[in-house]
Amino acid sequence: MKTISVINLKGGVGKTTTATSLAELLAEGDKKRKRPGSRVLLFDNDKQGNASKLFGVYDREHEAQACRILKTGRIAGNITDTQEPNMDIIPCNYFMELAELDLKADQEHAQHERYKAALDEVAGHYDYCIIDNPPDLGMNVINALVATDEIIIPVYLDAYSLDGLEELVEQINQIRALNPKARLSGVLIADYEKTDTSEEAEAWLRNRSGFPVFVQKIRHSKKVKDATIYGQTPCHYNIRSGAAQDYKKFVAEYVGLYGHQAAGERR
Ligand SMILES: Nc1ncnc2c1ncn2[C@@H]1O[C@H](COP(=O)(O)OP(=O)(O)OP(=O)(O)O)[C@@H](O)[C@H]1O
Ligand SMILES: [Mg+2]
Repeated sequence: MKTISVINLKGGVGKTTTATSLAELLAEGDKKRKRPGSRVLLFDNDKQGNASKLFGVYDREHEAQACRILKTGRIAGNITDTQEPNMDIIPCNYFMELAELDLKADQEHAQHERYKAALDEVAGHYDYCIIDNPPDLGMNVINALVATDEIIIPVYLDAYSLDGLEELVEQINQIRALNPKARLSGVLIADYEKTDTSEEAEAWLRNRSGFPVFVQKIRHSKKVKDATIYGQTPCHYNIRSGAAQDYKKFVAEYVGLYGHQAAGERR
């Protein structure tokens, strides 16, 4: 199982849209490109529970499964089915705040490796675990980064992005300090609209930042917001939208660069 963290400490940059689209497209496979479906575990690590809401498994009343994993380091009983044939999910909700307090109070057991221990238990059952992270560096995010093999950083090139990109350099260094073995697979330009600022920011990112940047960008599409209203990922809501097409090409680029994992062809 390959574990991929989708992360950016900035909010609203397309993390959840990217994590859920990546999970869904890997699970579905791609007939045109002859890519078989993979077994995918989507890990919602954000107390907002946006990924859980998208797959209809958000529960605001009871402690969500991601919180229990953070507290116990155990996975049994904490995975939920989705309607996608090849995809399961670990839901999250606001109980994560309490789980973090619980974790900090527990000085007797290691605090950073709970997710890793839990995910190791199901490493043989899935090809990919995709973790959707919140825009902060709480204990749950540190746990995700310790468990991760690869990092994908979606960025939004808006009017403030040139300042933001310098911050991004620092953030990436912070993130990698927590798990030097984790590979930065790439920065993904998400929710892209062509303006003078975004072109300047993109040139900096591609030519001067030193970070790997995926060739494929994800266009801004009105249909993406519409999709969230109907509780669907952009690819399920309207596969012909610009963003859905771009996510398909991004996943093809990703597996082209880093290899594909599916039952029977795992490393
Ligand atoms: N390509 C796109 N085109 C149009 N809207 C988009 C696109 N990508 C994301 N959005 C919209 O932007 C908003 C933020 O996206 P998303 O929730 O994926 O960001 P996030 O980084 O996960 O946010 P948070 O930090 O709050 O978790 C959402 O309303 C989403 O529908
Ligand atoms: Mg999100």
